[in-house]
Amino acid sequence: MKTDLPKPSPEAAEHSRQLSLLLKHNISTSKEGYLAFDHFMDMALYEPGFGYYSTGNIKFGEAGDFITAPGLSPLFSRYIAHQLIAVLSSVERPRILEFGAGTGCMAVNILTELQQCGILPERYLILELSSELKARQKALINEKIPDMASLVQWVSGVPPKFQGAIVANEVLDAMPVSRFRITEDGIQEQVVKLTDDAQFRTDFVPASANLKNSVEALSLQMGGHVFAPGYQSEINPRLPGWMHLVSRGLEKGLVLLVDYGYSAKEYYLAQRNKGTLMCHYRHRAHNDFFWYPGLQDITAHVDFSAVAEAASSNGLQVLGYTPQAFFLFGNGLQEMLEALDPDDVQNFLKVSEQVKTLTLPGDMGERFKVMALGRDVDMPLSGFEMRDFRDRL
Ligand SMILES: C[S@@+](CC[C@H](N)C(=O)[O-])C[C@H]1O[C@@H](n2cnc3c(N)ncnc32)[C@H](O)[C@@H]1O
Repeated sequence: MKTDLPKPSPEAAEHSRQLSLLLKHNISTSKEGYLAFDHFMDMALYEPGFGYYSTGNIKFGEAGDFITAPGLSPLFSRYIAHQLIAVLSSVERPRILEFGAGTGCMAVNILTELQQCGILPERYLILELSSELKARQKALINEKIPDMASLVQWVSGVPPKFQGAIVANEVLDAMPVSRFRITEDGIQEQVVKLTDDAQFRTDFVPASANLKNSVEALSLQMGGHVFAPGYQSEINPRLPGWMHLVSRGLEKGLVLLVDYGYSAKEYYLAQRNKGTLMCHYRHRAHNDFFWYPGLQDITAHVDFSAVAEAASSNGLQVLGYTPQAFFLFGNGLQEMLEALDPDDVQNFLKVSEQVKTLTLPGDMGERFKVMALGRDVDMPLSGFEMRDFRDRL
């Protein structure tokens, strides 16, 4: 157990104890005597009433566990909005759908910017798994943009014949992953078991057929790349299903995905032999995923080659792939910066700080990538005009 992390309150610890009991019950009553890692991660994050994203704990911002770009600066959502304008103008019933809307501030800032640009969508839909976050989003929207609150609706799937834009910031990294290890005897899968005194422990078992096929397909996709024995990493098994749902509903329009991640060749580098799984608690990153289940975020980087592959096999076009900095500059951040009045020192410093965090390579500028997918989209996309790295996927 990590001892250098801040101690949770007694109530939070009790909450985690209850989720742990549930996890332990599921392990001890399972046929195999274990939970596959993705199942453990799914419960730790999304178990109704107990999972990290399902409860009322503060996750986002200074007082929470991490800060995402929309909460860091309204500029992020503003330049996402600029990318959506041409697409919204090109369809008959323009709508926006945001996956996993967090605090709701991206919805607030996108709508505010679109209103100023005079091109509001017919509806702003939010697909949110957590009922607690839904309530927070509603409250923020009613408080900040009461005049546009009636445009916002919460949905449980991508509506059929959807036309417009689908956006998801840091959603793919929050999907449960399967973890694998290469051995002389084949591909193994990480699972969660219990010790004799009912504590969590991990073990490796022969990989399920699905995971084995996925790892083999990954090697093929990387030109017959052979992982060395001992190599460990992860794969998102829910990505193809998610992409299928997105593609099935999207009749015409754009999908913008923003997240930290790499192409498969960079993700599965020989040196990155422990994968990218990370836990976040009170702005500290560590790798002990058994630390107080339900109180901390668990996340993995995104394999954007897999995203592109899932999109193509569902009939979507891959329209662009670029680091966040180029995307934001391409959509007008550059011009805004040049037009800032340096004599308004306070504002100049505040905005410059935000721009630095969003765009510097050591910060979010390079680590975060933006991928555009689409159906029946034929206009140029300004966010990918400075640089487009689709050839690296
Ligand atoms: C790291 S938070 C990001 C929140 C927000 N987009 C932001 O940038 O601040 C991850 C979010 O993704 C959501 N999420 C994960 N998988 C999802 C899915 N399949 N459908 C919808 N939301 C999902 C979670 O519920 C959570 O709200």
